[in-house]
Order: sequence, then C-alpha cells, then structure tokens
Amino acid sequence: MQIFTNITSLIAAVGAVVGHDVIDEQAGLSEYQTDMLNYHNVHRWNHTSESLSWSPKLEAAAKRTAHICKLKHDRAGQNLAGAMRRDDVGPTVSNMWYNNEFSNYDRSPNAASEPTKPGKVSGHFTQVVWSGSERLGCYTADCRKTPFGFFLTVCNYEPVGNVRGQYKKNVHKAIGYPVLRP
Ligand SMILES: *[C@@H]1O[C@H](CO)[C@@H](O)[C@H](O)[C@H]1NC(C)=O
Repeated sequence: MQIFTNITSLIAAVGAVVGHDVIDEQAGLSEYQTDMLNYHNVHRWNHTSESLSWSPKLEAAAKRTAHICKLKHDRAGQNLAGAMRRDDVGPTVSNMWYNNEFSNYDRSPNAASEPTKPGKVSGHFTQVVWSGSERLGCYTADCRKTPFGFFLTVCNYEPVGNVRGQYKKNVHKAIGYPVLRP
C-alpha cells in the first residue's frame, strides 16, 4: 500500500538522519516484528535512546497475556492497546503511544518523580522511549469473538521502564526529528 511505503521511507529517512539503521524483514523477523521494532525505534532515536531488539521470550509472554483478551496488565514494563489490527500496529503504536501522549509528560524542573501532567496519561510514551529498556516482545491477539470485542496488542519491555524516580535519567528531551503521524 502506498501509505505504508511512504511511512517506511519516512522511518528510513529519520534513521539515516539520526545515524541508525532501519531494519527490514531480511533480518529474519516477520513484518509484524519488524514494524513493531521500527516504529518504536524511530521515536527512541528522537529521544537519544538506543534501538530495542526483538525478544522471543518477551513475545511469548505477550502472547499469553494477549490471549486472555482483557485490558489488564500482568507485569511491569508492559504496554497494552485495544483496537489495533495486526497489519497496522506500527502506525497505531506511533499515534496511540507516542503522538497522543508526548505532550502529557511533565518536563518542568519541579515535576513529580512520576512526571505526568495532572489528569493525563504518559506512561505508554515514557515506556516507548525509556533509554534503559533494551528488548521488546509484542503480540496482537484477535479478541473479536470474546467479550473484549477488539484486537488486543501487548508489548513487554526489558529492562522495565517507568521506574519511579528514574524518569529524568531515561526520558531524554526530543531532538525534533520529523513527526510520524500516519
Ligand atoms: C520528535 O520530537 C518532536 C519534538 O521535538 C516531535 O514533535 C516529533 O513528533 C518527534 N518525532 C518522532 C518521530 O518521534
């Protein structure tokens, strides 16, 4: 699809500007795994965090969680999202977890040790760009025939992010690379 090609080129362009490699499917990963990594990493580079690598172990855990078909965390370092289809998870990650939450994060010097602006959510964003996290494993289950009624995407991260008191060290300022708004 044209739009996907453009987004992939945009990711590649951002990668080139920041001096990182965008991976492709030849790395032995599926399209889903590749998209998940690339759409996480492009935002991480924007916050001077290193790329994540794919963890089959974290993916297996995500699969178990996703198949329960409930929007309920079962470990630390986990992002959940309903209503993401398997074939457009990448753009959805960008929009739901990054673009929608980016400005909810409180960067002011007197921010709390878990610095989200009052009444807002920023925990998905901070986990995506958390510099201490190195590995990612995600799974999207089709929960449409369950009471949940949508697809459910689970991503697990290790080392886990969103550790109280560690935000300043792990959520770096954005360096202003192009907005990915699929
Ligand atoms: C990079 O950061 C800027 C803010 O400096 C933000 O507007 C933009 O959406 C970010 N781009 C990506 C790809 O994360």
